[in-house]
Parts: sequence; structure tokens; C-alpha cells
Amino acid sequence: MTRISVTVDGTRYTDEVEPRTLLVHYLRETLGKTGTVIGCDTSNCGACTVHLDGRSVKSCNVLAVQADGREVTTIEGLATDGELHPVQQAFHDCHALQCGYCTPGMIMQAADLIAHTEDLTEEKIREGMEGNLCRCTGYHNIVKAVQQAAARPVPVMEVQP
Ligand code: FES
Ligand code: FES
Repeated sequence: MTRISVTVDGTRYTDEVEPRTLLVHYLRETLGKTGTVIGCDTSNCGACTVHLDGRSVKSCNVLAVQADGREVTTIEGLATDGELHPVQQAFHDCHALQCGYCTPGMIMQAADLIAHTEDLTEEKIREGMEGNLCRCTGYHNIVKAVQQAAARPVPVMEVQP
């Protein structure tokens, strides 16, 4: 077992994990952060996307030990002071979800894309979101939601040194 200390959604956790434990399993099974979803076994779907030090990663493709000393934000930490994050609000406004299985990962990826991309065209949105799959709807409203959110100021997430 290996001891790790990780800040997740603003709270510091210290736990013993097996070196092989995936970050997504640590978040869901140890911390109960079930808003982060497992949608595949192949690193393809993006449902497990979280932010690691402010950038999106597929948490099924990262070991928990790799998050040691770092900051993770999940979908459960995106809203602040009871206010939805602009990307969450835009997904709601634009009806950009149906079953919602893919939605947490979509929102986390979109938030990173908006925060780190200049001149976010529809083409850049589609390219930036291509690692996130939705099985039950078209992507049209998802793209519209990202465009709406991009038009608003998106809060910059604090990353601890
Ligand atoms: S569960 Fe991580 S990419 Fe599908
Ligand atoms: S709404 Fe995305 S998989 Fe169903």
C-alpha cells in the first residue's frame, strides 16, 4: 500500500491505496465521489473526466498515486456557493443531456476547453470534445451549450502550488 495526500474538490484527503488503484476507483470507492462515472474499460468514453491541477484527464487512465500532492476537481466540486458553474448552467439551458451518463465528463472537458482555448469556434469545440462520447443523443445541443458557456466568463479554478 502507498500513502497519498490529494486535494479533491477543495478538501485534503490522506489514504492508503494500492499502487495499481486507478484515480477513478479512488474517487468513487474511497471518497464516494460517484458523480465521476465509469463508462468503458478502454479510455475511450470520457465519462470519468476530472481536472488534475486544472487540466482535464480521464481518471480511468491515471493512477491514484499519480495524484499524490496534487489537486483534483470533480463534477461535484464545480459549483461554487450554490451557483452552478457556467458550463453546468449552459447544459441545463440548452438541454444538452438525456440520460446524463456522459454529462459529468462532458462538462469537465468543456470547462477545461473553454478555460484554455482562444477563439473557440464550433470546429474547435467539436475537436476538443471528441474524446467524450454520448450514446443517446446527437452532439448538437452539447456544442450549443459549450458555445453558450464560452460566451460567459468562466471562473478560473484555483490550483494550489
Ligand atoms: S471510463 Fe474513462 S474513458 Fe471511459
Ligand atoms: S446523455 Fe450522454 S450518454 Fe446519454
